[in-house]
Amino acid sequence: MRKQLTVKKISIALLILFLVIQLFRIDKQNPPVVAEKDFLALNTASAEVQNIIKASCYDCHSNTSVYPWYTNVAPVSWWIKHHIKEGRKHLNFSEWGNYTAKKADHKLEECVEMIQEGEMPMSSYTLIHRETKLSEEESLMLVNWFSSLRKPEVEKSDDQD
Ligand code: HEC
Repeated sequence: MRKQLTVKKISIALLILFLVIQLFRIDKQNPPVVAEKDFLALNTASAEVQNIIKASCYDCHSNTSVYPWYTNVAPVSWWIKHHIKEGRKHLNFSEWGNYTAKKADHKLEECVEMIQEGEMPMSSYTLIHRETKLSEEESLMLVNWFSSLRKPEVEKSDDQD
């Protein structure tokens, strides 16, 4: 009897907690986008490569994130917002035009590595956005394309510094 009462109390407490945290909403306003600074505006990619990158990377690594309905539900919303914030901090394709040649080259190198290691797009993301999971063929296509943008002279000039 007493145990049942405790379970009921805990359930009610959790429900109240869930309702209260809904008051803490995430900021869904995307930072402004300057079209000419966009990675895909500055680099010529096939339509296919563009589509894959936009679908699989831009939600977290650009200022054009799309926020589906479940981003209205805390605590999931906080978790997603954290990924977007961290993702943009590490690599923001919308701000590619502001990167120095050295930084851009380094980011390209990391894109290749992340895709080769299967680290990106994040598995928690592809679990929900199934269509964004890269097939072997798509991974290879991206790896080749990112690699082709790298500039050997950037590396060389780094060595001399
Ligand atoms: C669900 C959000 C999400 C998606 C989608 C995503 N990333 Fe990431 N990415 C992150 C986060 C968060 C980090 C920060 C490091 C970490 O937590 O692993 C990151 C880190 C990186 C880094 C490391 C940058 C650095 O300087 O350390 C690269 C490169 C990268 N991602 C490339 C990609 C590419 C390419 C795609 C698409 C194929 C992609 N990511 C898709 C969230 C994402």
